[in-house]
Amino acid sequence: MADKKTFYITTPIYYPSASLHIGHAYSTVATDAIARYHRQRGDETYFLTGSDEHGQKIERKAKAEGVTPQEYVDKIVAGFKDLWKLLDISYDGFIRTTDDYHVKAVQKMFKKLYDQGDIYKSKYTGFYCTPCESFWLDRQVKEAGGVCPDCGGPVELVEEESYFFRLSKYADRLIQYIKDNPTFIQPNSRTNEMLQNFLLPGLEDLCVSRTSFTWGIPVDFDSKHVVYVWLDALSNYITALGWGSEDDSLYKKFWPADVHIVGKEIVRFHTIIWPIMLMALGEPLPKQVFGHGWLVLDGGKMSKSKGNVVDPVALCARYGVDAIRYFLLREVPFGSDGTFSNEALIARINTDLANDLGNLLSRTVAMIDKYFGGALPAPAVTADEDAALIALASELPAKVDVLMNELHIPDALAEIWKLVGACNKYIDVTAPWTLAKSEAGQERLKTVLYNLAESLRIVAVLLTPFLTSTPAKMFVQLGTAPAQASLNAVAWGGSVPGSQVHKGEALFPRIDVEAELAYFAAEADKAKAAATPATEPAPAAEAAPAAPAKHGHGDDEAPAEIEYDDFAKIDLRLAKVVACEEIKKSKKLLKLTVEVGAETRTVVSGIKQWYTPDDLVGKTVVLVANLKPVTLCGVESHGMILCASDAADENLSALTTLAEMESGLKVR
Ligand code: MSP
Repeated sequence: MADKKTFYITTPIYYPSASLHIGHAYSTVATDAIARYHRQRGDETYFLTGSDEHGQKIERKAKAEGVTPQEYVDKIVAGFKDLWKLLDISYDGFIRTTDDYHVKAVQKMFKKLYDQGDIYKSKYTGFYCTPCESFWLDRQVKEAGGVCPDCGGPVELVEEESYFFRLSKYADRLIQYIKDNPTFIQPNSRTNEMLQNFLLPGLEDLCVSRTSFTWGIPVDFDSKHVVYVWLDALSNYITALGWGSEDDSLYKKFWPADVHIVGKEIVRFHTIIWPIMLMALGEPLPKQVFGHGWLVLDGGKMSKSKGNVVDPVALCARYGVDAIRYFLLREVPFGSDGTFSNEALIARINTDLANDLGNLLSRTVAMIDKYFGGALPAPAVTADEDAALIALASELPAKVDVLMNELHIPDALAEIWKLVGACNKYIDVTAPWTLAKSEAGQERLKTVLYNLAESLRIVAVLLTPFLTSTPAKMFVQLGTAPAQASLNAVAWGGSVPGSQVHKGEALFPRIDVEAELAYFAAEADKAKAAATPATEPAPAAEAAPAAPAKHGHGDDEAPAEIEYDDFAKIDLRLAKVVACEEIKKSKKLLKLTVEVGAETRTVVSGIKQWYTPDDLVGKTVVLVANLKPVTLCGVESHGMILCASDAADENLSALTTLAEMESGLKVR
């Protein structure tokens, strides 16, 4: 592996025009995994994210809500930080473009560029797209058929006095720079796109101030103007490190950035405007700009303005943070577009996480427990099949290193899963349960179980940058010290014979696909009924009425505290089951007729696996009575039966009362 160094990585700074969706989470989780990888390999790492808070769109939204723009962004940015906390984003700096130090540094930058003649005053005529915060030339709008070339929405014709930045002056230098530095724009295909579509046809100077709105950084020597968005936004990458302030020690240490991670639609701003700004300022250029693809829904990009977004908070509540991180990091080649679907998410969780990894760990630990009283045996008798497994595990860290340095994040995970797959095959080939039956097999069994535990330990170390709670859970079950999360501990042989393993909960409980898809279908029906365009899953509090909600590995993580008033919103009632039948089309669902005081209702519950209709008739259960009705397998369900279950859903019991009580009574 290469020598340790400093490593500076950034996400785009997000617009606080609405809450963030899974597409933004994608960008940030990917950046986080890269940052964590560099920290793990010992690099002194600085990971910056933040919010891009100025502009007309925010000004208008705040006005519509009757608050000041600052109040408006404060609230939304607090939500960004909550989301990053939930997703375990390990940022070192969070810059807000309304931060005082940023405002001052941008004013200083603007003045310097103006004084040296790179910014000049003129008149701007063109089209403006408010949702995209983009100005477009007549030609560009015409080519797009009279609409915004990015979002296809309407554009407004605007004319105003503006300051302009002389992009054109630096175009040749930039073209040369890009040619001399073939890895500056990644993936490679984007280099050509920038050269052919934007640079070679010739650059026009860039409008960098507006007078038509006031929510921006004032040009301090011409108070009519505020700095227009890209100059303000892009400079965050250096102002956050103290450029232009009294303390620029971080700037000296970390600039130039190793990589800016950005979505593909903003690659052009980062590879044309930003390097030219830096050239004009006489500062070094970032080493790389990586443009990732979009997560799309049904062929279209998710967008806050289109309303077709998926809420990462609801997904994390339902499946657990590591499951969502894994999906985001594994599903789509980094750099390409990919589709988000509930089916794909569930398939990844069930196949890769629950079956391949989770079962492997629980089988290994269970066998060490059963055959050796929980003490990891020392390897003894070896056989041919060991060498291939050990070689795969030993070569894995270097392979992951190459892939992560090239930002092939999903491939790095796929490589780790090759070892997981090899371990599962190794179990099939060595058949430890057969070895355990004979005296002669005991010595071989020791080696087999040691090799499995050791491979899993290496997997856990290598997963540390990607998944934030799973590796620690694996270390606990394997009886390995968590300090082993360092890459220094990745060499084969680190597991200490005699360590005590601990049987634990399934890392990722299997999801019942049928019930889960029924849940999403019901949610979609509800969304349609409410006549909103959103396709996002329900908030976490709305648990699946079809089956006990399976919250991934987050089951035992206590949710945040709530006020009594929040609890009081849930109308819990005793209900007596007066009739019950199977829903034939479904493997999981029972249709219950329940009496709630004087009222009779139908409730569909995903508990067929645990109860027959006869088990339930005559029983008193606890009903969430004020849950919105949903239709499951064609039956309208009016409420949800409360059940307790273990994380693997092996044991489940509907709740009832200790004494006979009348139906309809309130549970509080
Ligand atoms: N504020 C600018 C960036 C300024 S950086 C100096 C901006 N903000 S944004 O909130 O609209 O988008 C931020 C990032 O989120 C972009 O890189 C964008 O590509 C990314 N994504 C938004 N929706 C996305 C998907 N559906 N999929 C993947 N990334 C997505 O642009």
